[in-house]
Amino acid sequence: MGTSIKNKERVLIGPVFDFEKEGGVSAKVGEKQIAIFYFESRNEWYACDNACPHTGDMVLSRGFLGDNNGEPKVVCPLHKRNFSLTSGDCLSGENYKVNVYPVIVENGSVYLEIDSSSGNNV
Ligand code: FES
Repeated sequence: MGTSIKNKERVLIGPVFDFEKEGGVSAKVGEKQIAIFYFESRNEWYACDNACPHTGDMVLSRGFLGDNNGEPKVVCPLHKRNFSLTSGDCLSGENYKVNVYPVIVENGSVYLEIDSSSGNNV
């Protein structure tokens, strides 16, 4: 493996069949709650902070999944702000941002890749 993953830690979240299709679940990883999304129709997975940066409420895992010109997004269920699941940027024209995390699916299990140098140790 290359050196680019030296501070990355792979954390097992659970089996694929535990995840909502075309929806999200939340998982606690260290001190963080992370929302993990399964776009079954695209066979793609994404993860971001569960806390919406607008109010800090832990709601994004219950958000609606969507597509913004090919870019996957989640729509906050509270006030409908849209967040890109690739960049974490707020797509509703405001200066909010969520952290996004790589999701790895291997042998029927779902893992998150977390930066272990930023206090996310489990
Ligand atoms: S809490 Fe998410 S948009 Fe207001």
